[in-house]
Amino acid sequence: RSRYTGLIDRYRDRLPIRDDDRVISLGEGNTPLIRLQNVPRAIGKDVDIYVKYEGLNPTGSFKDRGMTMAVTQAVNAGSKAIICASTGNTSAAAAAYAARAGITAFVVIPEGKIAQGKLAQAMMHGSVVIQIQGNFDDGMRLVKEVAESAPVTIVNSVNPYRLQGQKTAAFEIIEELGRAPDYHSLPVGNAGNITAHWIGYCEYTSGSGDHVTEACAFCQGHCKFAGGAVTGNRPVMVGYQAAGSAPFMRGEMVDQPETVATAIRIGHPQSWVHAWKVKEESGGWFDECSDEAILAAQKLLAEKEGVFCEPASATSLAGVLQDLESGRIAEGSSIVCTLTGHGLKDPDTAIAQSSRAPIVVKAERGAVEQAILANL
Ligand code: F0G
Repeated sequence: RSRYTGLIDRYRDRLPIRDDDRVISLGEGNTPLIRLQNVPRAIGKDVDIYVKYEGLNPTGSFKDRGMTMAVTQAVNAGSKAIICASTGNTSAAAAAYAARAGITAFVVIPEGKIAQGKLAQAMMHGSVVIQIQGNFDDGMRLVKEVAESAPVTIVNSVNPYRLQGQKTAAFEIIEELGRAPDYHSLPVGNAGNITAHWIGYCEYTSGSGDHVTEACAFCQGHCKFAGGAVTGNRPVMVGYQAAGSAPFMRGEMVDQPETVATAIRIGHPQSWVHAWKVKEESGGWFDECSDEAILAAQKLLAEKEGVFCEPASATSLAGVLQDLESGRIAEGSSIVCTLTGHGLKDPDTAIAQSSRAPIVVKAERGAVEQAILANL
């Protein structure tokens, strides 16, 4: 049995990579697909809900899948520096992969609006952190502007190599389940990840030949596996947004996005056009969840299943719970919810909403015993 050495080695034949390229990897991918046991019982529904726990990637989010490809490509093209705008996870991944590659990462983040863990990662990996007095969308605009003249490679999902790496999550799901699920639910910010998953599902379920799906226009010619007749099933793709940051529900850009789920506090999605095509091609939809519903889903997963994800990630489950309740998703369905980032990324939000405050007692046997008996 060979050692797992990351998704580029694993899916080399389906990725735009040359044999002699130096691969920048931290062993990303191959994340657990966990079947929920207690949540379906708790909501009284007969459904197969799986969570794809992307928080177990090396830097704690799905961004590592895209970053291994983007940084590998940048390094092999001779780039000495990368840059991204970020709500936190992209900056953590960019910082780590740049450290691994021995190049510089510049990360542009909204001041005061990224979770503690993510800021710690960007700082610890030695990236240059540029905090702007603006939001993610401002940062994205600035990054695109400066990259026109400065010698830096953009590693946001507008870099096509990012989506190429991220599509491998769909491959893993099909291989593990033996088929695609009926529904695949994701939290949507820039909509890069929902696009990447659709590319992955389309590629994996098609034969060889020309690009078969419009989604493949997104790959800018990088797909190696796209085209031909679709042979397998593909899921209905469902994207959920935080209500205060839901341009796909409003049908237009949102200038002042707000949500407790800071990772998806985005009003001007970069993959706007792509995501509408994904919705159309897959027969899916977008919907929105309140901050309360998002936090409730995060807590439900943590308390009932032992799975800790960050608030933005729980949006995928929060939306599915709403749609199971309304009947839009039928009982008997199989559903995969992507949990995009680890709960440890945002300890402040977690502690603020946890139901049990620590019990403070004297360091004495009797006091500890009493605390146990009172809480059995
Ligand atoms: N979930 C988490 C935890 C994220 O960090 C992001 C995006 C998303 C969902 C949305 O994914 O943008 O592909 O639709 N985070 C980016 C960042 C914006 O900078 O870390 P998307």
